[in-house]
Amino acid sequence: MAMKQMTGLASAMMLGISGRIAKAFPQSSSAPAPAAPTGPFTLPPLPYAYDALEPYFDAETMHLHHDKHHKSYVDKLNAAVAGHPDISSRTVYDLVANLDAAPMELLTAIRNQGGGHANHSFWWETLGKGGAAPAGELAKAIDAKFGSFSAFQEKFTSAASGVFGSGWAWLSRLPNNTLIIETTANQDSPLTVGHTPVVGIDVWEHAYYLKYKNKRPDYIKAYFSVVNWDAVSAKYAAQTKA
Ligand SMILES: [Fe+2]
Repeated sequence: MAMKQMTGLASAMMLGISGRIAKAFPQSSSAPAPAAPTGPFTLPPLPYAYDALEPYFDAETMHLHHDKHHKSYVDKLNAAVAGHPDISSRTVYDLVANLDAAPMELLTAIRNQGGGHANHSFWWETLGKGGAAPAGELAKAIDAKFGSFSAFQEKFTSAASGVFGSGWAWLSRLPNNTLIIETTANQDSPLTVGHTPVVGIDVWEHAYYLKYKNKRPDYIKAYFSVVNWDAVSAKYAAQTKA
């Protein structure tokens, strides 16, 4: 299935529009939250403190982004796959990588909620304050493809800035081990078209609107200060090791 040709089946279901934040998470409500469906998919803990990425990514946004938005994808995915043990026994990465094999009645949920769970689970692990630039084999691959790290940053920034509405920009590895900058709409994943994400940036407004308002370029610039290039480079080297 050509992901870039997808038109976004259920974007209205998502929580990515900033104007909905206050409505979705009213601060004054004392009503208990409804019990969330349990398992089989779980929200991974944020691998650092909420304020670990300050001042670039603020703690309040990180809190909402992980504990509310990401959790919502997990809860809705669990609700959708209840009663489908053949689906719930697989990893979310496996599900989005084999979207064309999903049961028709679960296709939208796996694509949107599963994609949201997969994309965010991947994303948290690429962030942190470890290294200012790619290293080793990843640095060589970026130089070979884009000419330099700064040239890559320029192209990646342009791609992320150009995402219309909600989506992601990615540096992905193709099956032939070359790199590509690509974008996906909503919560579509590069995995669905056989690409392996190396890094990505969430450009849903829920990722930046509290701090950066409508200034997505400022958020993208800040993103480059919180990529854990040491971890990303080590993972790339392990994945591409002959
Ligand atoms: Fe997000």
